[in-house]
Amino acid sequence: MDKHRRWLPSLAALGISARAGLAAMALLLASPLVGPSLGPGAWLGKALGPGGAAWAQVAAPGNRLGTAPPPARLWRDIRRGRAGAPSGTAIGTGVLVQSEGQRWRELHNRRVRPYGGWALLGSLGAVALFFALRGRVRLDGPRTGRRMARFTQAERVVHWYVAGLFVLLAVSGLTLMFGRGLLLPVMGKSAYGALASAMLQGHNLFGPLFIAGILVMAALFLKDNLPQKGDLLWIAKGGPWMRSHAPSWKYNIAEKAWYWLAVVAGLVLSASGLVMEFPWVFRDISWIQLANLSHGIAALAIMAVALGHIYLGTIGVEGALEGMTTGSVEEAWAFQHHEMWARETAAGSAGARGGTEAESEGARPGAARAGHAAAE
Ligand code: HEM
Repeated sequence: MDKHRRWLPSLAALGISARAGLAAMALLLASPLVGPSLGPGAWLGKALGPGGAAWAQVAAPGNRLGTAPPPARLWRDIRRGRAGAPSGTAIGTGVLVQSEGQRWRELHNRRVRPYGGWALLGSLGAVALFFALRGRVRLDGPRTGRRMARFTQAERVVHWYVAGLFVLLAVSGLTLMFGRGLLLPVMGKSAYGALASAMLQGHNLFGPLFIAGILVMAALFLKDNLPQKGDLLWIAKGGPWMRSHAPSWKYNIAEKAWYWLAVVAGLVLSASGLVMEFPWVFRDISWIQLANLSHGIAALAIMAVALGHIYLGTIGVEGALEGMTTGSVEEAWAFQHHEMWARETAAGSAGARGGTEAESEGARPGAARAGHAAAE
């Protein structure tokens, strides 16, 4: 009773009659009981925009301490992020409660993290299913022993540099994102704390190194990943199912899509990563929250698709890895998977009368084979 009496003068001071005030309070308190979409709490939440519903129902701090709550106007100001005049200078020091943070946490913990986790597992499942149904894509015929130059040394060095950093960033990033839920209960606080700290330091170090690599890689591989006439033929002829004689240029349309996803997601990861790494430059925590969400989405998208790329580049397609390890591929492989490119390369080699890269790798210009393919 005493508690109520203490409330009455403050409500009167705000021009609200005691009975109306108590009725409004009862309604507000009852709102969670009548369901999340009903009641003034939800209405207030909606009126305040996305994420508002959750915080509109949160008790004022005064209630927690067992003292009278602060006047509604003060609480509203706090929740709307009104800044005071602090003595510290760190980002957001003047703001007591940054309400958008609740929205960010909700999106991060209830959307990006679980859906991203499922996307990764779904991608693993899809790769396993493809392997179970299609098996390893073998060379159609015997090896000819002739090689075709496919990647220069610079292209290979940059590819493996980016790939290595990608794996380090993926492992450390996944630990940061899922470690608390998955590893902490198993490892215990101190071991997990040490691991998470090491992963964070590693991630912050590898990130900028990755940026340099992805920029160089985007430039080096751009020319052959632009759209070309005949790209769609690969899909029409059953390329996604790895049918032989689905003709393609140096990269088929799926590989080109992977290139563009890697470049765009890589740039998003780089920009958002820098925002998170140097937050003091931006001074507004909303930028960091936005960076964090876009970083998580781009990271999970690129990792999910990378699983398919890694599978096809290693065990999925016989002979594919050789290009990136030695720089050249078996001629039979080139004609089976990238016929238009192989024909063009072979014709170029023949035209150059042995002075080309293909011949310097010991390859015989596949003129006869090219003629055969053209006649098909
Ligand atoms: C392939 C590249 C990358 C992948 C797969 C990746 C992955 C991730 C993931 C999954 C997280 C956790 C996000 C979360 O919990 O919400 C994260 C956080 C982070 N990443 Fe990346 N990232 C990559 C590149 C970069 C780059 C290029 C930079 C910097 C230039 C960077 C800097 C950061 C920072 C600062 C964090 C926040 C760490 C924290 O304080 O919690 N990342 N990354």
